[in-house]
This record gives sequence, structure tokens and C-alpha cells, in this order.
Amino acid sequence: MHVKVLVLYCHPNHPASQINRRLRAAAENVWGVTLHDLYHHYPDGFIDAEQEQELLHAHDVIVLQFPFYWYSTPPLLKAWQDEVLTFGFAYGQNKSLSTRQLLLAVTLGAHPNTYQRNKFAFELPELLRPLEAMSQYCGWEHRGIFSAGYEGNPGIEQLEIDAKRYQTLLEECVAGKLPPLFSTLNPSC
Ligand SMILES: Cc1cc2nc3c(=O)[nH]c(=O)nc-3n(C[C@H](O)[C@H](O)[C@H](O)COP(=O)(O)O)c2cc1C
Repeated sequence: MHVKVLVLYCHPNHPASQINRRLRAAAENVWGVTLHDLYHHYPDGFIDAEQEQELLHAHDVIVLQFPFYWYSTPPLLKAWQDEVLTFGFAYGQNKSLSTRQLLLAVTLGAHPNTYQRNKFAFELPELLRPLEAMSQYCGWEHRGIFSAGYEGNPGIEQLEIDAKRYQTLLEECVAGKLPPLFSTLNPSC
């Protein structure tokens, strides 16, 4: 079984990236993954909604890969949601896009463990709930959150470990072995 995976890569400053750059390279190594760089395609912010919708039609698993900016997505990913996930296409009774599988790949300015109640007021899945709500509203299946982040400057070894972890996740998706359904409403699912 071959599942088509689309990684929507959304980094406002790719040349300066350390983590996403490495994760992206790992994703590009995976046969069956399409890597689509939103800031590269739309440097002036004007999104070709039709082309984006075609891409969604052509893939089964959608991975949103981005650096966490003020507990949210970079602005172009929000614009992508506003302009691409329209009524009649992504939601509404006669929507043309059927169920898709969603994965989030988020990089952080700190170790993911920082986002725990005993260290910070909010946990990461809680902060990413708007994307979970988007997924539910569109009838997609949320398959969880991949996160990477470090205390201070990441060492090459840690970057390699996380890149490998990401690559394995994507390889498994292509092979049809998706992570279990994810929900903050029902943590056991
Ligand atoms: C404008 C801006 C806002 C940021 N906000 C957050 C944040 O809310 N939480 C966080 O953990 N890191 C935050 N960071 C740090 C980035 O998430 C982090 O540097 C990035 O994920 C590292 O990946 P990269 O090397 O691919 O850029 C922010 C960085 C910038 C530039």
C-alpha cells in the first residue's frame, strides 16, 4: 500500500533555519513524500488557492511543518488555511475534499518538555488546538504532533536523532502505518 504524503513546509526564514532545514532534508529523502515550500512558492503572500487545493486532492496525509511562532503558526500558514480551506472545498455539505489525515510537525525554541504544566501554563497540544479544531471541522483525522526543540543551540547529534525520527514517521505513513488517532478531548484515543 502506498499512501501519498504532502509536507506543507512553512518557514518564514528558511536560510536561517537549523531544525526545520534538517527535518525538511529528511522528509525529502522519503520516497512518496511531496515537499511543498509555501514561502518559496508565495514570497509575496499571494496564494494560488486552486493549485493548493489540487495538491490536497492528490494526497492522503497532510503534514503541516512549521516553527512555532508566538504559540501559533507563521502567518503564511494561517493565510493558507483562510484561502485554501474554503466552503464547498474543505467543509460544507457538498465539499469536494474527502477525509484527509493530518500530522503536525512543530519545532520549538525550547525542549518539548518545557511545555508541561509544572514548567509552563500550557501544554503543546493545548496550544495547537485551533489546528485540531480545523481538522475536526473539515472531517479530517488528526494523527498527532511531532515536535523538536532544544535547550540552547542544538548539537548535530540531536538534530540527526530528530531528523531520523521524522524520516521514520514519514516512511511509516507512506507505508500505510499511520500513528493512532489523536485528540485532546479524549487523550486515550
Ligand atoms: C517571531 C518568533 C516567535 C517565536 N515564538 C515561539 C514560541 O511561541 N514558542 C517557542 O517555543 N518558540 C518560539 N520561537 C522560537 C522558534 O520556534 C524556534 O527558533 C524554531 O522553531 C527553530 O526552528 P528553526 O531552526 O527551523 O528556525 C519563536 C521565534 C520567532 C522568530
